[in-house]
Amino acid sequence: MTGIFARLLLILALPAALTAQDRLAYAKDVAPIIKKYCLPCHLAENENPSQLSMDSYEVLMKGGEHGDIVIPGKPEKSNLYIKLLPDPPFGKQMARNRKRLSEAELKLIYDWIQQGAKK
Ligand code: HEC
Repeated sequence: MTGIFARLLLILALPAALTAQDRLAYAKDVAPIIKKYCLPCHLAENENPSQLSMDSYEVLMKGGEHGDIVIPGKPEKSNLYIKLLPDPPFGKQMARNRKRLSEAELKLIYDWIQQGAKK
């Protein structure tokens, strides 16, 4: 009886566990990358180039001089992603201090935006 119950629980719990794992969130997945590569330049009280502040999720979602930098679901239209690639449509490739994100970090930013850029 308990065996059946345990198996039933496993079947029910498994899909939930899988989706939870690939759903990226700003605080746990993206913020550490921003902190490592983009601050201190993009801070409200610092240089704050292009009026783009990345102090928090809320201000980051407000975007910069060129408008929203995150278009949820559309990484290829999001400056947060586009500006990390060589030859962006304006300005220089980020991070501007020649530190470059790894392929894995770049993919994470892409996937996070594609998944809806959740907090
Ligand atoms: C050494 C300072 C510096 C660092 C570090 C830096 N940036 Fe920038 N960023 C700038 C400057 C200066 C500009 C304005 C000129 C330009 O667009 O190249 C800018 C502009 C931008 C813009 C354009 C905003 C708009 O609407 O015009 C985006 C997006 C951006 N940065 C993202 C990032 C991301 C993401 C990181 C971290 C991976 C990062 N930056 C790290 C200096 C920096």
